[in-house]
Amino acid sequence: MLGAFQLSGTTDSMPGRSSEQRRDPGRFGDVRIAPSVLSADFGILAEQVGEVAPAADWLHVDVMDGHFVPNVTIGPPVVQSLRRHTPLFFDCHLMMTEPGRYLEDFAAAGADGCTVHVEVGGTDELVAQMRALGLRTGLALNPDTPFEAVRPYLATVDLVLCMTVFPGFGGQSFIADVMPKVAQVRAAVDAGGLALDIEVDGGIDTTTAPVAATAGANVFVAGSAIFGHERPWEAADAIRESVRSAQ
Ligand code: DX5
Ligand code: ZN
Repeated sequence: MLGAFQLSGTTDSMPGRSSEQRRDPGRFGDVRIAPSVLSADFGILAEQVGEVAPAADWLHVDVMDGHFVPNVTIGPPVVQSLRRHTPLFFDCHLMMTEPGRYLEDFAAAGADGCTVHVEVGGTDELVAQMRALGLRTGLALNPDTPFEAVRPYLATVDLVLCMTVFPGFGGQSFIADVMPKVAQVRAAVDAGGLALDIEVDGGIDTTTAPVAATAGANVFVAGSAIFGHERPWEAADAIRESVRSAQ
């Protein structure tokens, strides 16, 4: 079922909507830099993404619904438009109370991975839905949500996102108290030999990325540190370098 949007060129009955060709996410555990478009200039979004693309592994797309978080940002139509301008892997972070209503639209629009928050509940169904749509499957935890909330799903998802700020806004300060939880996820991944990426998001820059890397994170989302820089590609490279030196 389509949600609120009817995407051009797709219909409810179109066969194979869920099997759109997805882009390669790379190997589990590899370092990845994921610029967050939240801090880009939305008026020239494709241009901004093109500038940062050579230094980016994934593009982090922040979707806010005005319910789960106070802000409203972008939805499937923007993902669909952006899809025509870049081959980057789209890592869609759904800060939504009812992500299940929109997963199919995101998949059809060209999302490669979707991450939903465990705080909204219905996680088993959401994971099954993302899998059925062929999406790389992620679960996000707010800073005050404990490791235990994600533990049952570690073997069945591809990514755990440990928020290092409370979601809703760019430009907030990194919450270092989240690092023990990142380390718990890393320990479980290593102990179980699990195929899982560990992502951090919020206040990531050249100072905090190495801290998160040391705790066990391997995917680094950065918005203001990258798009707030006059040469965003240099900022992304500098974050990658800071992670390398920590390893
Ligand atoms: C916050 C978003 C983040 C945001 C990070 O709710 O999920 O992805 O863009 O922005 P910075 O890097 O500025 O903290
Ligand atoms: Zn995000």
